[in-house]
Amino acid sequence: MATEETLVLIKPDGNKRRLTGLVIDRLDASGLELVAAKMVSVSESLAKEHYALLSDKPFFPNLIRYIRGEFHGFKDHRILALVYRGENAIKKTREVTGATNPEQAAPGTIRGSFGRITTDGQFENVIHASGDAADAAREVALWFKPEEILPRG
Ligand code: PPS
Repeated sequence: MATEETLVLIKPDGNKRRLTGLVIDRLDASGLELVAAKMVSVSESLAKEHYALLSDKPFFPNLIRYIRGEFHGFKDHRILALVYRGENAIKKTREVTGATNPEQAAPGTIRGSFGRITTDGQFENVIHASGDAADAAREVALWFKPEEILPRG
């Protein structure tokens, strides 16, 4: 299995509820290597590009408002973006993360422990983790310049 890189975003609910350290602790414990990290201001265009494949979904407008911190009172829209690297990094990260729907996420996963669905149906699932190799390549390149990522080896 080749070494992979995957994007993780700590969403505004994760930041607001002070879950950042816990998320990093769990990802570190999976054996993957943290190779990039920065607070990024999520412009509307960055949010829309990140979620471009979902633009026809009914929840798309709320997904954009959520990742920009508009549900959580964040005025400057910054969130923590991370890149993890390692063997099977995409799958391993998704296992630690748990299912997208917090109600279906296994106990002990990040989303199973801390995610919730608000009364109007909005998922607040703490983190984003790239879904597959194509998403990971696109998303890492969207959020990070190559020189911001630790070199391999
Ligand atoms: S996944 O994780 O990409 O395989 O899941 P998918 O079902 O394709 O969902 C993609 C993103 O859309 C979010 N999502 C929702 N947000 C709000 N409300 C509803 N009902 C909903 N359904 C899906 C989901 O959280 C995924 O975003 P990320 O940032 O990856 O968690």
